[in-house]
Amino acid sequence: MLKKHINEPQTVPGGATQSLKHESGRLHVSGKATYIDDIPTPANVVHVVPGLSTKAHARIVSMDLEPVKNFPGVLCVLTAQDVLGENQVSPVGAGDEPLLATDEVFYYGQPIFAVVAETRLAARKAARKAKIVYEDLPAVLSVEEARQKGGDMVCRPLEMVRGNAESALENAPKRLSGRITVGGQEQFYLEGQAALATPGEEGEMRICSSTQHPTETQHMVAHILNRPSNLVTLEVRRMGGGFGGKETQANAPACLAALAAEITQRPAKCRLDRDDDMIMTGKRHDFVIDYDVGFDAQGHIQGADMLLAARCGWSADLSGPVTDRALFHADNAYYYPDVRLRSEPFRTNTQSNTAFRGFGGPQGIAAAERVVEEIAFATGLDPLDVRLRNTYGTQDKNITPYFMTVEDSISREIMEQLAEECDYRKRREELRAFNRTSQYIRRGIALTPVKFGISFTATHFNQAGALVHVYTDGSVQVNHGGTEMGQGLHTKMVQIAMREFGLPENRVRITATTTGKVPNTSATAASSGADLNGMAVLDAISKIKERLISFAATHWQAPESTVHFGANGVQVGENCIPFVDVVKAAYMARVSLSSSGFYKTPKISWDPKTGRGRPFYYFAYGAACAEVAVDLLTGENRMERVDILHDAGQSLNPILDIGQIEGGFIQGAGWLTMEELVWDQTGRLRTHAPSTYKIPACSDRPPIFNVKLLENSPNREETIFRSKAVGEPPFVHGLAVLHAISDAIASIADYRICPQLDAPATPEQILRTVERLKKQKDMPH
Ligand code: MTE
Ligand code: MOS
Repeated sequence: MLKKHINEPQTVPGGATQSLKHESGRLHVSGKATYIDDIPTPANVVHVVPGLSTKAHARIVSMDLEPVKNFPGVLCVLTAQDVLGENQVSPVGAGDEPLLATDEVFYYGQPIFAVVAETRLAARKAARKAKIVYEDLPAVLSVEEARQKGGDMVCRPLEMVRGNAESALENAPKRLSGRITVGGQEQFYLEGQAALATPGEEGEMRICSSTQHPTETQHMVAHILNRPSNLVTLEVRRMGGGFGGKETQANAPACLAALAAEITQRPAKCRLDRDDDMIMTGKRHDFVIDYDVGFDAQGHIQGADMLLAARCGWSADLSGPVTDRALFHADNAYYYPDVRLRSEPFRTNTQSNTAFRGFGGPQGIAAAERVVEEIAFATGLDPLDVRLRNTYGTQDKNITPYFMTVEDSISREIMEQLAEECDYRKRREELRAFNRTSQYIRRGIALTPVKFGISFTATHFNQAGALVHVYTDGSVQVNHGGTEMGQGLHTKMVQIAMREFGLPENRVRITATTTGKVPNTSATAASSGADLNGMAVLDAISKIKERLISFAATHWQAPESTVHFGANGVQVGENCIPFVDVVKAAYMARVSLSSSGFYKTPKISWDPKTGRGRPFYYFAYGAACAEVAVDLLTGENRMERVDILHDAGQSLNPILDIGQIEGGFIQGAGWLTMEELVWDQTGRLRTHAPSTYKIPACSDRPPIFNVKLLENSPNREETIFRSKAVGEPPFVHGLAVLHAISDAIASIADYRICPQLDAPATPEQILRTVERLKKQKDMPH
């Protein structure tokens, strides 16, 4: 039914599958885009600032908030007792996340109270005046400590077993084991967590929030205020970046603002200070992964056993699905004939780690790529050849550890095409020759693939809604449940309407996402924003078009099959009628010009109890090749050249997708080479500002940076115009940089020893690895 009304591509300039500038690009660069803190506030607005724990784990013996209350400008101080509903904001119903601490604190940075004041500065200063007496309790800060001290977990661990890994490992001609550690990562959205709450009539509350999940934030606020969801409206026009950090962790600031607004009956804003934001909110999970792998002399993997342990922080948050996704990706693009994968989601007294681009997938993939690298060194093969020999096949070798059949593996083709186009083999030889003549500067190259599963693994999240209005002047308004965080989702939704109605960009307006227009939405996450909402928007448009087509056919007396929406107007038989005239005539004939739309992803299912199913509708593929230079004296390193070939299916918007690939890659490279989170022995995060936490800058871009979309590769599944999700998969391309650095420093031991370079490969980490390699080199082996 849908297909009948889908317009042919390329009929409208800038319509879906063509490049179109980001709908807010001009506003972004001119400073005119409105973020939460730019929304004009009434004169009586109050400001909310949380007071944070200064202990990693402690009992609160006493709390004197009088000095805070008496501070000039302070209106009131909120504590757990002021919460009107249940003092609980766990997004997964784990019941382990109070909005404000009660008698115990679980990490350094946990909100204990919130100051409400006339100015933000007064609130911040007053927050420091609290006198809290703690009694220290034993704290668990790392994965290692968690293991030693009883191994408390925030949620159920997951096990995936296919075949018999133990006997495969025993019978394999070769076998090795090892450990990789991969660090966490701060989301570092440019706009910090922020919310503005405005009380209305009879218990109504309107919240503007920088959230990836308006529906959940709405429900949390309703819950905290102890009122039904129909009194709470959540709105978000855009975020200044989310990257997963606002999938659940935008809830607390929104709840604090709403509570302050309710209690004072004045508008209330909570915008976290950057340092507080970094100290309070969760990050990417760091992992410690132990691997045991069996293989033959040609590098074919025969069995794999991996244990993936994660530092989850003090509460469950999304650690369950994140550690699950790490397992789902611990194979990356490779077939493991016999396999056992297990997760250990450890509870620690640190920030509650949460979503971050890739959602655990990149950590699992990092382990798979280390395994491949180890096999390459053990067999003397080029790592690329080990990769090519182990990729999923299309006929055989196509079952994942979770029993999903990989129907469309193109990893091998993509790697081969990229290797050819960027001259990988020849350059590898040249770099080796260079390294023989260079004492301190060493160069390295690596080519790594990504296979990334698309869909929320919790099946019910894979649904979306939309609401499309056509006005009688022929202009169109598009609303949908997804949120814009810079990725270009709104632009893509506009393009769908442009293409389907045959309209130019200035006739289609996207509006802020609001729970009042499209309810019960999922977070904009798992890269599926365009897949889900795009189909819902198309569904809404198709319903309106169906009505217009049937009306036009009767009104202008032509067969329905002759009605087409094009850039010049609506073709009805021999006549081409301006869109606005069709719309006006339809309105006069009392035809509805508005429709909702709905979509749910077909084919998917997943049962964590059996470890079997088809959790993903499809996979996104790609490969990256990075060349780096490393200074052996200082550990400094830089990217010299990067080539990426990425599969976005039939891209909805090639320039935006290339932007996502470039940005994702750089963010991934930052995670693996320079971003380092440091906690001291008291559990205090010491890297809580850009002064101590280094993210990539423009100058870190590789001077040669070639990014290409895979051509002629429409999605085999029926996604929106056969496109593929592109938000998270390119993040994984950063792994090529880690492996290129490893290749460069392997030259120290004549490429005989696997450097086992852990991430982040900061200069310090590189120097440590170099020193270890120098020692190992002289040892008999
Ligand atoms: N791109 C920008 N510019 N800003 C962001 O915050 N978030 C990423 C990715 N790309 C992000 C981004 C993450 S974590 C996800 S899940 C997807 O965008 C979400 O959007 P999509 O589903 O529409 O791709
Ligand atoms: Mo993205 S980590 O799924 O918000």
